[in-house]
Amino acid sequence: MHPLQCVLQVQRSLGLGPLASVSWLSLRMCRAHSSLSSTMCPSPERQEDGARKDFSSRLAAGPTFRHFLKSASAPQEKLSSEVEDPPPYLTMDELLGRQRKVYLETYGCQMNVNDTEIAWSILQKSGYLRTSNLQEADVILLVTCSIREKAEQTIWNRLHQLKALKTRRPRSRVPLRIGILGCMAERLKEEILNREKMVDILAGPDAYRDLPRLLAVAESGQQAANVLLSLDETYADVMPVQTSASATSAFVSIMRGCDNMCSYCIVPFTRGRERSRPIASILEEVKKLSEQVLQLIHERDNICKQIHLPAQSGSSRVLEAMRRGYSREAYVELVHHIRESIPGVSLSSDFIAGFCGETEEDHVQTVSLLREVQYNMGFLFAYSMRQKTRAYHRLKDDVPEEVKLRRLEELITIFREEATKANQTSVGCTQLVLVEGLSKRSATDLCGRNDGNLKVIFPDAEMEDVNNPGLRVRAQPGDYVLVKITSASSQTLRGHVLCRTTLRDSSAYC
Ligand code: 5AD
Repeated sequence: MHPLQCVLQVQRSLGLGPLASVSWLSLRMCRAHSSLSSTMCPSPERQEDGARKDFSSRLAAGPTFRHFLKSASAPQEKLSSEVEDPPPYLTMDELLGRQRKVYLETYGCQMNVNDTEIAWSILQKSGYLRTSNLQEADVILLVTCSIREKAEQTIWNRLHQLKALKTRRPRSRVPLRIGILGCMAERLKEEILNREKMVDILAGPDAYRDLPRLLAVAESGQQAANVLLSLDETYADVMPVQTSASATSAFVSIMRGCDNMCSYCIVPFTRGRERSRPIASILEEVKKLSEQVLQLIHERDNICKQIHLPAQSGSSRVLEAMRRGYSREAYVELVHHIRESIPGVSLSSDFIAGFCGETEEDHVQTVSLLREVQYNMGFLFAYSMRQKTRAYHRLKDDVPEEVKLRRLEELITIFREEATKANQTSVGCTQLVLVEGLSKRSATDLCGRNDGNLKVIFPDAEMEDVNNPGLRVRAQPGDYVLVKITSASSQTLRGHVLCRTTLRDSSAYC
């Protein structure tokens, strides 16, 4: 079929006006059709003969060459996933997911996992729901891989299975729509639509923003495709939604595509040119993930509430010389944020005394940071210059050894005072302790860690097990025990054991 004819037929079937009023999108589809980059064609059985008849008259009123050039000049224009501006042949309602349930299946590499999260983020915003139950799905989307032949064969096999699902679907339900996303859509383009008539939509790796429109078109029973590759699409503004609640890791994609052109590899052809995400958007995503980590530490009893935040110095001037990338103020702000997010969190830090150029005033700043934050644990060192470092080449190790040691002693004293104060708030409390084993200092004592990762020492005595009343037990490494804290120093807590318990059973302490 001629590309222009394709647009005419689409228009007719959607009841649109003359070709001259077609949006840039349809023009782009027409332009792109010859290069198989973006198509929206009715399935052959739906084609109308009438289109051919009034072809000439419509052509006369149709777009000029300039229209095509205009659309060609903005091939990377992005469709907003916010569905603010529907194309003229779709209503806003059609563009929205209308609570249709989407089942996403991911094949291949980590990039595809990320693509799935992006595609889902876009569809979620459009009003689609997610299901992990294939039978429940109104839309099944396969995020595909083309890296080796076997990967593609897996998809073809899967499509055969899904075909049965589609044909068996009761008429009382909305028709099932099937989509191929990602590399295989990009590599095979129309071949998939022609070979598997039951595939409704195709979206290449750079076309996920177009998914709501493609699905809306598919609603009317037509096949819809967008396999345009982009030079700059990075989905920078689309926050991936982690698709599996049980996932133990999250990927932050920093680039898409590949320019390497290794002689065996299809990737440059399926994922297009290499492009990087703007740093600000990467940082924003990492920030969001960090927030989630803080939230988890706060929420979950099986994660201990301790964070190590190596400050190195309390002086912004020294921090700059150290090239740490933050100021004292930014560090303090982070401490406040963490304390608000995780009440009762235990903080530890590293500090270096006597770094190159450190003045007495800088040292006082570090002392004041120790006072301000009141760490529970600290690791303090006198600076020693190391070969090959930037400081070795560019700075002068100009703080005399005795000054370094004096400052270090001062830091240690202040740290101990503050940690003792902080730890003493635990005296009188009953704390959950994870038993590690015998105390290093005494064979009659056991040692464990509280929820702030602080050492807790207590006599190895018989106790009751909360789950077996009447049973007397001795704590073993790995057990959880409740310990009543009776004294505290800067490094350890001491107390006596009350009973053996479990994470689940233990809930209330100071
Ligand atoms: N001199 C002194 N302390 C150092 N650290 C790293 N390099 C040096 C050095 N050249 C300390 C920092 C770091 C910890 C692991 O060791 O405080 O956080």
